[in-house]
Amino acid sequence: MMEHRGRQTKDGIRIYDPSDFEGMHAAGKLAAQILDEVIDHVFVGQTTGAIDGVITQMIEDAGAKSATIGYKGYQHASCISINHVVCHGIPGDKKLKDGDILNIDVTVIVDGWYGDNSRMYVAGKLPRKAERLIDVTHDALMRGIEIVKPGNTFGDIGHAIQSFVESHRMSVVTDFCGHGLGRVFHAPPNVLHYGRPGTGAVLEPGMFFTIEPMVNLGRAETKILSDDWTAVTRDKSLSAQFEHSIGVTETGCEIFTQSPAGKFHPTYSRD
Ligand code: MF3
Ligand code: CO
Ligand code: CO
Repeated sequence: MMEHRGRQTKDGIRIYDPSDFEGMHAAGKLAAQILDEVIDHVFVGQTTGAIDGVITQMIEDAGAKSATIGYKGYQHASCISINHVVCHGIPGDKKLKDGDILNIDVTVIVDGWYGDNSRMYVAGKLPRKAERLIDVTHDALMRGIEIVKPGNTFGDIGHAIQSFVESHRMSVVTDFCGHGLGRVFHAPPNVLHYGRPGTGAVLEPGMFFTIEPMVNLGRAETKILSDDWTAVTRDKSLSAQFEHSIGVTETGCEIFTQSPAGKFHPTYSRD
């Protein structure tokens, strides 16, 4: 007998069942809870390696698994991207300085379901221009999420994000995108954070994916450092990112990675 793989659209996007939302909520909630609790470990003088160590422990304590440890050779439970690092910053012995902004991105596996979530933090005092960047990036994600309902398209989501960001004279990164997820970490479609209304696949109930816009204060161009992971802005301008994992419902969407403590935004620091 053939293995039951569920329905897929012509674009290869898997359609999950209503009963699958529960597993995604559990995975998303753990990822969000970890990002809530990590606030106490973000402060001036702290290393990103120590923050990653805490995250590794929290995942283990929850009886869950890290999706990133061992993923394409990556060895950490989080990506921590400071200032001009756009994404995929590798935790290490670098110490946080006053005014550094950082994205912490955690993906966990709970009972085979993937929860992928990231948000911004600050060490010490949040500089004014960084605050503006972070606010625009958060609001861009939320503008994108507002568009999510059956009948709208992925191009509609990208357009909402891009037009909002550009109205604030900032740049959307086009070199990285969101992704389908569920029983796997990265699946179709590529969720672009730019685009034209009405283009791309049509949203259907049961689609699970991330939206995770990266926004730069300067130009959009990025490059990857020689460690083969760390992506930075070419012009060294500040970059920010927020990520939610969501599922399309009959009337809109559910956010799997909602912060239990309501601390997704604004930006928190222990200091
Ligand atoms: N969590 C990242 C994402 O949003 C992927 C990180 S892959 C890693 O898709 F290997 F760099 F951890
Ligand atoms: Co993601
Ligand atoms: Co992520």
